[in-house]
Amino acid sequence: MTDRYAVIGNPIAHSKSPLIHAEFARQTGQDLNYTSLLAPLDAFARCVREFQAAGGKGLNVTVPFKQEAWKLATRLTPRAELAQAVNTLKFEGEAILGDNTDGAGLVRDISANLGFAIQGKRILLMGAGGAARGVILPLLEQRPALFAIANRTPARAHELARLFLPHGELCSGDYASLAGQHFDLVINATSSSLHDELPPLPDKVFASGSLAYDMMYGKGLTPFLQFAQTNGAAQLADGLGMLVEQAAESFFLWRGVRPDTRPVMAMLKSL
Ligand code: ATR
Repeated sequence: MTDRYAVIGNPIAHSKSPLIHAEFARQTGQDLNYTSLLAPLDAFARCVREFQAAGGKGLNVTVPFKQEAWKLATRLTPRAELAQAVNTLKFEGEAILGDNTDGAGLVRDISANLGFAIQGKRILLMGAGGAARGVILPLLEQRPALFAIANRTPARAHELARLFLPHGELCSGDYASLAGQHFDLVINATSSSLHDELPPLPDKVFASGSLAYDMMYGKGLTPFLQFAQTNGAAQLADGLGMLVEQAAESFFLWRGVRPDTRPVMAMLKSL
Protein backbone atom coordinates (compact mmCIF):
# COMPACT_ATOMS: atom_id res chain seq x y z
CA MET A 1 0.00 0.00 0.00
CA THR A 2 1.22 3.53 -0.80
CA ASP A 3 2.41 5.37 2.35
CA ARG A 4 0.62 8.63 3.06
CA TYR A 5 2.16 11.93 4.16
CA ALA A 6 0.92 15.54 4.16
CA VAL A 7 1.72 19.08 5.16
CA ILE A 8 -0.74 20.52 7.66
CA GLY A 9 -1.30 24.24 8.22
CA ASN A 10 -3.73 27.15 7.92
CA PRO A 11 -3.61 28.57 5.29
CA ILE A 12 -2.08 25.78 3.22
CA ALA A 13 -3.19 26.24 -0.40
CA HIS A 14 0.09 27.83 -1.54
CA SER A 15 2.44 25.33 0.11
CA LYS A 16 5.18 24.03 -2.18
CA SER A 17 5.76 20.97 0.00
CA PRO A 18 3.52 18.57 -2.00
CA LEU A 19 5.43 19.46 -5.18
CA ILE A 20 8.81 19.08 -3.47
CA HIS A 21 8.02 15.71 -1.88
CA ALA A 22 6.46 14.37 -5.08
CA GLU A 23 9.75 15.17 -6.83
CA PHE A 24 11.79 13.53 -4.03
CA ALA A 25 9.61 10.40 -4.22
CA ARG A 26 9.89 10.20 -8.01
CA GLN A 27 13.64 10.72 -7.91
CA THR A 28 14.28 8.09 -5.19
CA GLY A 29 11.62 5.60 -6.36
CA GLN A 30 9.79 5.74 -3.02
CA ASP A 31 6.14 4.67 -3.09
CA LEU A 32 4.41 7.49 -1.26
CA ASN A 33 1.64 10.00 -1.60
CA TYR A 34 1.99 13.53 -0.18
CA THR A 35 -0.93 15.95 0.03
CA SER A 36 -1.85 19.14 1.92
CA LEU A 37 -4.23 19.31 4.84
CA LEU A 38 -6.07 22.45 5.94
CA ALA A 39 -6.70 22.23 9.70
CA PRO A 40 -9.25 24.54 11.35
CA LEU A 41 -7.40 26.87 13.74
CA ASP A 42 -8.98 25.17 16.78
CA ALA A 43 -8.72 21.57 15.58
CA PHE A 44 -5.05 20.84 14.88
CA ALA A 45 -4.74 17.88 17.30
CA ARG A 46 -7.96 16.28 16.04
CA CYS A 47 -6.82 16.53 12.40
CA VAL A 48 -3.44 14.99 13.23
CA ARG A 49 -5.04 12.08 15.10
CA GLU A 50 -7.51 11.45 12.27
CA PHE A 51 -4.67 11.35 9.75
CA GLN A 52 -2.70 8.99 11.99
CA ALA A 53 -5.74 6.74 12.59
CA ALA A 54 -6.33 6.55 8.83
CA GLY A 55 -2.85 5.07 8.39
CA GLY A 56 -0.84 8.25 7.69
CA LYS A 57 2.90 7.84 8.26
CA GLY A 58 3.98 11.41 8.88
CA LEU A 59 3.21 15.11 8.62
CA ASN A 60 5.03 18.33 7.99
CA VAL A 61 3.65 21.11 10.16
CA THR A 62 3.58 24.74 9.16
CA VAL A 63 2.16 28.08 10.36
CA PRO A 64 0.50 28.44 12.84
CA PHE A 65 0.75 24.97 14.36
CA LYS A 66 4.47 24.34 15.02
CA GLN A 67 4.18 24.95 18.76
CA GLU A 68 1.04 22.86 19.06
CA ALA A 69 2.84 20.05 17.26
CA TRP A 70 5.65 20.36 19.80
CA LYS A 71 3.11 19.82 22.58
CA LEU A 72 1.37 16.95 20.78
CA ALA A 73 4.50 14.87 20.11
CA THR A 74 5.04 12.01 22.56
CA ARG A 75 8.80 12.00 21.88
CA LEU A 76 11.04 14.88 20.73
CA THR A 77 14.47 15.06 19.15
CA PRO A 78 16.84 17.31 21.16
CA ARG A 79 16.79 20.00 18.45
CA ALA A 80 12.96 20.06 18.46
CA GLU A 81 12.86 20.08 22.25
CA LEU A 82 15.00 23.23 22.38
CA ALA A 83 13.29 24.91 19.45
CA GLN A 84 9.92 24.43 21.20
CA ALA A 85 8.58 23.99 17.70
CA VAL A 86 8.06 20.93 15.50
CA ASN A 87 7.85 20.92 11.71
CA THR A 88 7.98 17.14 11.21
CA LEU A 89 5.89 14.42 12.82
CA LYS A 90 6.57 10.73 12.34
CA PHE A 91 3.96 8.22 13.47
CA GLU A 92 5.33 5.12 15.14
CA GLY A 93 2.29 3.03 16.09
CA GLU A 94 0.49 5.09 18.71
CA ALA A 95 3.59 7.20 19.40
CA ILE A 96 4.33 10.51 17.67
CA LEU A 97 7.96 11.56 17.14
CA GLY A 98 8.43 15.32 16.77
CA ASP A 99 11.47 16.79 15.01
CA ASN A 100 12.46 20.22 13.75
CA THR A 101 14.42 20.15 10.49
CA ASP A 102 14.37 23.92 9.82
CA GLY A 103 17.78 24.64 11.34
CA ALA A 104 19.45 21.67 9.69
CA GLY A 105 17.90 22.78 6.38
CA LEU A 106 19.27 26.30 6.83
CA VAL A 107 22.76 25.06 7.73
CA ARG A 108 22.81 22.68 4.79
CA ASP A 109 21.71 25.38 2.36
CA ILE A 110 24.36 27.77 3.63
CA SER A 111 27.22 25.28 3.77
CA ALA A 112 26.52 22.76 0.99
CA ASN A 113 24.59 24.82 -1.58
CA LEU A 114 26.05 28.28 -1.06
CA GLY A 115 29.53 27.01 -0.18
CA PHE A 116 29.82 29.22 2.90
CA ALA A 117 31.66 27.63 5.86
CA ILE A 118 30.05 28.78 9.13
CA GLN A 119 32.79 27.58 11.47
CA GLY A 120 34.85 30.46 12.85
CA LYS A 121 32.55 33.11 11.34
CA ARG A 122 30.69 35.96 13.05
CA ILE A 123 26.92 35.38 12.86
CA LEU A 124 24.14 37.88 13.38
CA LEU A 125 20.65 36.42 13.69
CA MET A 126 17.82 38.96 13.45
CA GLY A 127 14.57 38.11 15.21
CA ALA A 128 13.56 36.27 18.35
CA GLY A 129 10.31 34.56 17.38
CA GLY A 130 9.68 30.93 16.48
CA ALA A 131 11.61 31.12 13.20
CA ALA A 132 14.78 32.36 14.95
CA ARG A 133 14.49 29.95 17.83
CA GLY A 134 14.23 26.95 15.48
CA VAL A 135 17.63 27.56 13.86
CA ILE A 136 19.88 28.56 16.79
CA LEU A 137 21.09 25.13 17.92
CA PRO A 138 22.13 23.81 14.48
CA LEU A 139 23.94 27.12 13.80
CA LEU A 140 25.77 26.97 17.16
CA GLU A 141 26.79 23.39 16.40
CA GLN A 142 28.81 24.76 13.46
CA ARG A 143 31.00 26.56 16.04
CA PRO A 144 30.91 30.17 14.84
CA ALA A 145 33.41 32.62 16.34
CA LEU A 146 30.58 34.86 17.53
CA PHE A 147 26.80 34.53 17.67
CA ALA A 148 24.68 37.65 18.15
CA ILE A 149 20.90 37.83 18.32
CA ALA A 150 19.27 41.21 17.61
CA ASN A 151 15.61 41.93 18.06
CA ARG A 152 13.33 44.98 17.99
CA THR A 153 12.17 43.95 21.45
CA PRO A 154 15.56 43.23 23.10
CA ALA A 155 14.07 41.33 26.08
CA ARG A 156 13.07 38.51 23.71
CA ALA A 157 16.62 38.32 22.32
CA HIS A 158 18.06 38.19 25.87
CA GLU A 159 15.65 35.40 26.73
CA LEU A 160 16.81 33.30 23.76
CA ALA A 161 20.47 33.97 24.56
CA ARG A 162 19.89 32.75 28.12
CA LEU A 163 18.09 29.65 26.94
CA PHE A 164 20.82 28.58 24.51
CA LEU A 165 23.78 29.58 26.69
CA PRO A 166 24.55 25.97 27.67
CA HIS A 167 25.13 25.22 23.97
CA GLY A 168 27.43 28.09 23.05
CA GLU A 169 28.30 31.69 23.70
CA LEU A 170 25.71 34.21 22.57
CA CYS A 171 25.24 37.94 22.88
CA SER A 172 21.93 39.73 22.47
CA GLY A 173 20.46 43.21 22.16
CA ASP A 174 18.47 45.62 20.01
CA TYR A 175 19.57 46.86 16.57
CA ALA A 176 21.19 50.02 17.94
CA SER A 177 23.57 47.84 19.97
CA LEU A 178 25.07 46.54 16.70
CA ALA A 179 26.64 49.91 15.84
CA GLY A 180 30.30 49.49 14.93
CA GLN A 181 30.11 45.68 14.60
CA HIS A 182 30.61 43.65 11.41
CA PHE A 183 29.32 40.17 10.67
CA ASP A 184 30.22 37.51 8.10
CA LEU A 185 26.76 35.94 8.05
CA VAL A 186 23.60 38.00 8.64
CA ILE A 187 20.38 35.99 8.79
CA ASN A 188 16.93 37.55 8.73
CA ALA A 189 14.59 35.39 10.81
CA THR A 190 12.10 38.21 11.43
CA SER A 191 8.75 38.41 9.70
CA SER A 192 9.57 41.94 8.47
CA SER A 193 9.88 40.89 4.79
CA LEU A 194 6.27 39.69 4.92
CA HIS A 195 5.22 43.28 5.56
CA ASP A 196 7.73 44.66 3.07
CA GLU A 197 9.72 46.15 5.93
CA LEU A 198 13.31 46.07 7.10
CA PRO A 199 14.74 45.78 10.64
CA PRO A 200 16.71 48.96 11.54
CA LEU A 201 20.17 47.55 10.80
CA PRO A 202 23.24 49.80 10.92
CA ASP A 203 24.52 50.13 7.32
CA LYS A 204 28.07 48.96 8.15
CA VAL A 205 26.96 45.61 9.52
CA PHE A 206 28.22 43.54 6.56
CA ALA A 207 31.88 42.44 6.75
CA SER A 208 33.75 41.99 3.47
CA GLY A 209 32.89 38.63 1.92
CA SER A 210 29.70 38.38 3.97
CA LEU A 211 26.57 36.41 3.18
CA ALA A 212 23.12 37.95 3.71
CA TYR A 213 20.45 35.29 4.13
CA ASP A 214 16.70 35.99 4.29
CA MET A 215 14.69 33.01 5.53
CA MET A 216 11.71 34.39 3.57
CA TYR A 217 11.48 33.99 -0.18
CA GLY A 218 9.40 35.36 -2.99
CA LYS A 219 9.72 37.02 -6.35
CA GLY A 220 12.66 39.43 -6.48
CA LEU A 221 14.80 40.63 -3.58
CA THR A 222 13.26 41.16 -0.13
CA PRO A 223 13.81 44.61 1.48
CA PHE A 224 16.57 43.06 3.64
CA LEU A 225 18.38 41.61 0.62
CA GLN A 226 18.08 44.94 -1.24
CA PHE A 227 19.61 46.66 1.79
CA ALA A 228 22.37 44.03 1.93
CA GLN A 229 23.12 44.46 -1.77
CA THR A 230 23.62 48.21 -1.44
CA ASN A 231 25.57 47.95 1.82
CA GLY A 232 28.40 45.63 0.92
CA ALA A 233 27.19 42.03 1.36
CA ALA A 234 29.14 39.80 -1.03
CA GLN A 235 26.49 37.11 -1.43
CA LEU A 236 22.67 37.16 -1.17
CA ALA A 237 20.30 34.25 -0.59
CA ASP A 238 16.61 33.88 0.09
CA GLY A 239 14.90 31.01 1.93
CA LEU A 240 14.02 28.83 -1.06
CA GLY A 241 17.07 26.61 -0.51
CA MET A 242 16.21 26.26 3.16
CA LEU A 243 12.67 25.26 2.23
CA VAL A 244 13.90 22.45 0.00
CA GLU A 245 16.63 21.33 2.41
CA GLN A 246 14.30 21.15 5.44
CA ALA A 247 11.96 19.05 3.28
CA ALA A 248 14.86 16.75 2.39
CA GLU A 249 15.68 16.33 6.10
CA SER A 250 12.05 15.36 6.79
CA PHE A 251 12.07 12.95 3.86
CA PHE A 252 15.24 11.38 5.24
CA LEU A 253 13.69 11.01 8.70
CA TRP A 254 10.65 9.27 7.23
CA ARG A 255 12.22 7.16 4.49
CA GLY A 256 15.90 6.77 5.40
CA VAL A 257 16.86 8.02 1.92
CA ARG A 258 18.45 11.40 1.15
CA PRO A 259 17.08 13.00 -2.04
CA ASP A 260 19.13 15.19 -4.37
CA THR A 261 17.89 18.74 -3.68
CA ARG A 262 19.56 20.59 -6.54
CA PRO A 263 17.20 19.60 -9.38
CA VAL A 264 14.21 20.36 -7.13
CA MET A 265 15.58 23.81 -6.34
CA ALA A 266 16.18 24.46 -10.02
CA MET A 267 12.61 23.39 -10.80
CA LEU A 268 11.14 25.73 -8.15
CA LYS A 269 13.24 28.64 -9.38
CA SER A 270 11.96 28.12 -12.91
CA LEU A 271 8.26 28.29 -11.88
P1 ATR B 1 7.84 33.80 13.77
O1 ATR B 1 7.29 32.57 14.40
O2 ATR B 1 7.64 33.91 12.29
O3 ATR B 1 9.25 34.06 14.17
P2 ATR B 1 6.90 35.80 15.66
O4 ATR B 1 7.06 34.92 16.84
O5 ATR B 1 5.68 36.68 15.57
O6 ATR B 1 6.88 35.00 14.30
O7 ATR B 1 8.21 36.71 15.55
C1 ATR B 1 8.35 37.66 14.55
C2 ATR B 1 9.75 38.27 14.66
O8 ATR B 1 9.91 39.25 13.67
C3 ATR B 1 10.01 38.96 15.99
O9 ATR B 1 11.38 38.83 16.30
C4 ATR B 1 9.64 40.42 15.66
O10 ATR B 1 10.24 41.36 16.52
P3 ATR B 1 9.56 41.67 17.96
O11 ATR B 1 9.87 40.50 18.84
O12 ATR B 1 10.22 42.93 18.42
O13 ATR B 1 8.09 41.83 17.68
C5 ATR B 1 10.22 40.51 14.29
N1 ATR B 1 9.68 41.58 13.43
C6 ATR B 1 8.48 41.60 12.79
N2 ATR B 1 8.36 42.72 12.06
C7 ATR B 1 9.51 43.42 12.21
C8 ATR B 1 10.01 44.68 11.70
N3 ATR B 1 9.29 45.41 10.86
N4 ATR B 1 11.24 45.08 12.08
C9 ATR B 1 11.98 44.33 12.92
N5 ATR B 1 11.57 43.14 13.45
C10 ATR B 1 10.36 42.69 13.10
